[in-house]
Amino acid sequence: MNHYFDPGDGEWESREIRVVLDDHEFVLETAPGTFSPEHLDTGTRILLETVPDPVGTVLDIGCGWGPIALSAALRAPESDVWGVDVNKRGLELTMRNAARVGAGRVRAVLPGDVPADLRFDTIWSNPPIRVGKAELHAILETWLPRLNPGGEAWLVVAKNLGAASLMTWLAESWPDAEITKPEIGKGFWVIRFVAAGV
Ligand SMILES: C[S@@+](CC[C@H](N)C(=O)[O-])C[C@H]1O[C@@H](n2cnc3c(N)ncnc32)[C@H](O)[C@@H]1O
Repeated sequence: MNHYFDPGDGEWESREIRVVLDDHEFVLETAPGTFSPEHLDTGTRILLETVPDPVGTVLDIGCGWGPIALSAALRAPESDVWGVDVNKRGLELTMRNAARVGAGRVRAVLPGDVPADLRFDTIWSNPPIRVGKAELHAILETWLPRLNPGGEAWLVVAKNLGAASLMTWLAESWPDAEITKPEIGKGFWVIRFVAAGV
């Protein structure tokens, strides 16, 4: 099954896995048809090890069963954290998992259900690279302009899945943004995108 195009409707059963988030071990729910249901994805883990604590209102683009949104909520308990996904199963799991870790300020919704006037200070994402370039670019064109001035997006992308070309496209599309790639190795790039200031 291709989880990227799975709307997550229909019958499903969750399973429990042990996951370490923000240095604490939790028992969380995942399900078939969601991304990396067996364990925390390596790219996701590298992103979470690389990013500084989030500030302000946070967005996780493509939240899956929730590890990035939940980590943001654990690291910034005062922040509102939004997770968006096209997979409803992932949204349901993110909300169940938020309850499990005691993160009361997480909301997981379909992309179209985010209030139109909401702006973000931090975006963390392991984006859906395999949807193809055009769709990926459309997703980023939807959300990156919704960063407040000076807001930061952190995107993890496997080197062999086009991290370099994505970084080039970001720089061409937003010439006033600051775009850097902290050195981390291990086959993944974590791209830092800082929206232009006022
Ligand atoms: C690489 S997975 C990351 C999942 C989760 N954040 C994690 O780290 O385990 C990318 C996610 O993007 C979702 N996705 C695909 N197309 C999307 C879209 N247009 N808008 C939002 N999310 C999308 C997929 O359903 C998938 O859950």
